[in-house]
Amino acid sequence: MVTRKKAKRAKSKAAANKSARKVARLNMKKPAIKTPARRNAPPRPSSKPWGEAGRALDGVRILDFTHVQSGPTCTQLLAYMGADVIKVERPGIGDVTRDQLRDVKGADSLYFTMLNGSKRSITIDSKHPKGREVLDRLVKACDVLVENFAPGALDRMGLTWEHIHKVNPRMIVASVKGFGPGPYEDCKVYENVAQCAGGSASTTGFRDGPPLVTGAQIGDSGTGLHLALGIVAALYQRNRTGRGQKVLCAMQDGVLNLARVKLRDQQRLGHGPLAEYSQYGEGVPFGRATPRAGNDSGGGQPGWILKCKGWESDPDAYVYFITQAPVWGAICDLIGKPEWKSDPDYATPPARLPRLRKIFDTIEQWTMTKTKFEVMDICNGYDIPVGPILSMQELAEEPSLRATGTVVEVDHPTRGPYLTVGNPIKLSDSPADVRRSPLLGEHTDEVLRVLLRYSDKEISEIKASGALSAPEKKAEAA
Ligand code: COA
Repeated sequence: MVTRKKAKRAKSKAAANKSARKVARLNMKKPAIKTPARRNAPPRPSSKPWGEAGRALDGVRILDFTHVQSGPTCTQLLAYMGADVIKVERPGIGDVTRDQLRDVKGADSLYFTMLNGSKRSITIDSKHPKGREVLDRLVKACDVLVENFAPGALDRMGLTWEHIHKVNPRMIVASVKGFGPGPYEDCKVYENVAQCAGGSASTTGFRDGPPLVTGAQIGDSGTGLHLALGIVAALYQRNRTGRGQKVLCAMQDGVLNLARVKLRDQQRLGHGPLAEYSQYGEGVPFGRATPRAGNDSGGGQPGWILKCKGWESDPDAYVYFITQAPVWGAICDLIGKPEWKSDPDYATPPARLPRLRKIFDTIEQWTMTKTKFEVMDICNGYDIPVGPILSMQELAEEPSLRATGTVVEVDHPTRGPYLTVGNPIKLSDSPADVRRSPLLGEHTDEVLRVLLRYSDKEISEIKASGALSAPEKKAEAA
């Protein structure tokens, strides 16, 4: 007969055995769990000084099939962040921008040099059978293929997604196209087409004038920036999945993303007039679509561009002035209208909305007595947000932009020193790598020999085939 005591002892023994087994199991499991966990664990924080632990994209190799502006913007940014960008160009011709808007005879244009810094250049005829072989080797050796050809051009080269994915399943294929899938997907697109198709032009300019395109290249460079983000995200996902994917940025989508506040206003229109647009104060009725708003601020704080001292002769003697509500009192004192602080017509933001024209005209009487930099200095003392209209000349000469590496001077073997825009994204542990753009085919031999490991004999054969040379040279080679 089992006594209660015995049963209790047996139970506690069983429990002890169970926990011993559990401990043993855990102990047994420990190495099994620990080893792979340790292998996959993130590395310990580097003890190297900041900025000396390599660059953010070290080890990422880009097969750069881009041309003109949108694609090159993307790959240049990745190169600044440390990626090895190998630009593939057509033998003898290269990226068409090499000789577009040329300012120095015989030298690559600024159009090209300012969009292709920190890259290597290799010339390959991608439609030549031998060229295709070299390209396949490059596909195997690279992590990302970036292109912004007209729709279908990459496929016509034989570089379909299926082919690339078969040759290198880890390859990310990133493309800029004018439009996404839909009625316009086959269209070729340049900057201003995208600005018009993406909603920027219809909302830029003055109400009584035609739609306007902006100087900032939001269609080209803007879409290149979007693509760079997509590539980095795809690289990150590949760490988990082990496979590449397609990344597509349509220029229309990129522009619309940047113009999203205007789509916001389109929807607000359904609920009444847009009170912060000056047309509201002027009593001009709104139509069905978001109107052009001149220099009205896009946000909830009214603003306008105002003349400053010297505006009669200097086209950039202007300042953007924002009447931010919390500093309204300081603005009134500055412009000599202290009574507006308590006047019910001016004291509150809603009261001011129908009177914006008069308010900005009055502020302008004050700004016209000062240079744009004086306005900036005085207003900043009161936390009033203002922006001097800086010319490109002033930006090129601005010491603080040189100091931060936003404007960089690089030397070039055929055109001499030139200014370029460095990396606008500052990483504290990855200093930007801003170097001059490559000459056409400057790194062809280096890439074939060192990266693709072709022997001297093979390189001679490839060259003799005409796959790396311009059409006229091919005739000689044949
Ligand atoms: N070897 C052989 N052929 C090459 C080559 C190489 N290394 N590199 C390019 N080519 C060929 C292409 O295969 C294509 O030939 P195909 O049309 O016979 O197939 C040809 O060069 C021209 O390419 P494409 O992209 O059509 O150039 P384009 O000058 O006619 O058009 C754009 C230029 C920008 C309008 C067009 O590329 C486009 O719409 N791109 C997408 C949107 C975009 O990025 N626009 C902004 C540009 S800043």
